[in-house]
Amino acid sequence: MDRNGLIKAAFEARKNAYAPYSNFKVGAALLCDDGSVVKGANIENASYGATICAERSAVCSAVSSGKRSFSAIAVVGGDASETDLLGGYAMPCGICRQVLREFSDPDAFTVIVARSLTDSREYTLSAILPESFGPDNLK
Ligand code: THU
Repeated sequence: MDRNGLIKAAFEARKNAYAPYSNFKVGAALLCDDGSVVKGANIENASYGATICAERSAVCSAVSSGKRSFSAIAVVGGDASETDLLGGYAMPCGICRQVLREFSDPDAFTVIVARSLTDSREYTLSAILPESFGPDNLK
């Protein structure tokens, strides 16, 4: 799947976001090494700390269906009133960066953040999570 396809999937995932408290809806689309795309959305909770981000939602869904190797993620997020053109780029939070690190080569994994289908930015995971701690550190 190309970059635009992945961004489109993230916008689709965002429609399922449950964000009644922040009103900030996030969608993510994770590209797996087998070519499949797994979507995730943020799921908030009345006990605020139990909220799960869209990126981790996608990773949990993928790993739960047996996929453990990923090459890219597209993330889109913004106020619920914004649909096709978002006010900003939704950068993955620190916890999500670390969770993505567990299942990817940080130099090869691409993080795409988009405001629309035609307005996006791209980073390697290692650029936004430098000198990271990963599974190899425990060997
Ligand atoms: N959120 C995500 O889904 N991903 C991130 O990386 C940053 C934050 C969600 C969590 C919460 O539901 C809302 O955005 C506001 O923080």
